[in-house]
Amino acid sequence: MKNLKTGVVGLGRLGRVHAHNIRYQIPGAELTAVCSIVPAELEYARSELGVAAVYADYKEMLAHADMDAAVIVTTSSEHCWQIEAALDAGKHVFSEKPLGVDAAQCKQAEAAVERHPELTFMLGFMRRYDKSYAYAKEKIDAGAIGTPYLVKATGIDPEALVDGAIRFAKNSGGIFLDMAIHDIDLMRWFLGCEATEVYAMGATFKHPEFRAAGDDETGVAVYRFENGAMGMIHVGRTAPYGYHVETEIVGTEGTIRISAVPEKNQARLYNQNGVCAECVGSFPERFAEAYLTELQEFVDCALTGRAPGVSVYDGTKSTAIGYATTEAWKTGAPVKILP
Ligand SMILES: NC(=O)c1ccc[n+]([C@@H]2O[C@H](COP(=O)([O-])OP(=O)(O)OC[C@H]3O[C@@H](n4cnc5c(N)ncnc54)[C@H](O)[C@@H]3O)[C@@H](O)[C@H]2O)c1
Repeated sequence: MKNLKTGVVGLGRLGRVHAHNIRYQIPGAELTAVCSIVPAELEYARSELGVAAVYADYKEMLAHADMDAAVIVTTSSEHCWQIEAALDAGKHVFSEKPLGVDAAQCKQAEAAVERHPELTFMLGFMRRYDKSYAYAKEKIDAGAIGTPYLVKATGIDPEALVDGAIRFAKNSGGIFLDMAIHDIDLMRWFLGCEATEVYAMGATFKHPEFRAAGDDETGVAVYRFENGAMGMIHVGRTAPYGYHVETEIVGTEGTIRISAVPEKNQARLYNQNGVCAECVGSFPERFAEAYLTELQEFVDCALTGRAPGVSVYDGTKSTAIGYATTEAWKTGAPVKILP
């Protein structure tokens, strides 16, 4: 079978991970072009990844590069038009989450995907491809915990990276749109239905800069789902010990907990401080394998015509729920989520 010739747009924090994986780690994929508006990133692609076809303009890349697929890892506000342009140029598309930053943009991307049923589209909700989350989903679908009725999700970034979060707070869309989108997707996936109502609040105790930027340092949201199930999300930016992602699904016959201790590995350090498990440090470290598995899935789907497990509609739904959560947080009132 021929390789999937792939162009990556955006070579920032996550773009480099995807580009590196495509270049060196994904069988069936070939990195044939890259695009970024940052000249240093293009230089990185030339020198570190050995890519000759580098572009500062995305439309130029689509028009001239030798590529079957586009992997979009740009700033979130760029995703939707770039998805549409790539599909209309006949390329398969993998886009990072979120699908878009507002409902109208998401609908535009949805329409483009519907116009091109011959092409593969996949959204980067990589937690679904993490071994532990995939295992939990399999167990739930097999009835191992009975009927799931509550999902509790925690996602707290390491305080070591808080300066970056403060810098981007003004333009991030707020803590729920910026951080909770993965947890929102997982709640829908595990419960197998949609959220109908949300109540949310936030607080800032350590870094008043978040408040000054119209954001909060910590957010909590509670959801009702259409079958009566519930969800709880706790997101934050100041875990002093590392990167804390934890999920618990409670059912009528049992509970599944994923990363109840967000440990770095299975080693324990025994010394005068006691017995210590170090915490995982960052998202690229925690989800390194999931980033590989999701891209492998995209490449296999594009090469074989199989449909990927994450669709454009998952993107639209999650974004709509993220918006409703943000409205609930800002107004302090419960918000109904329209079907
Ligand atoms: N799935 C995950 O776990 C995860 C984690 C981090 C980020 N993300 C998502 O990935 C995307 C990128 O995040 P990041 O942290 O790498 O951001 P970043 O700011 O580090 O990088 C963004 C890159 O996009 C490039 N860019 C922006 N507009 C462009 C344009 N019009 N044409 C070409 N290049 C353009 C910039 O040059 C930059 O290289 C975001 O949408 C973010 O939400 C997902």
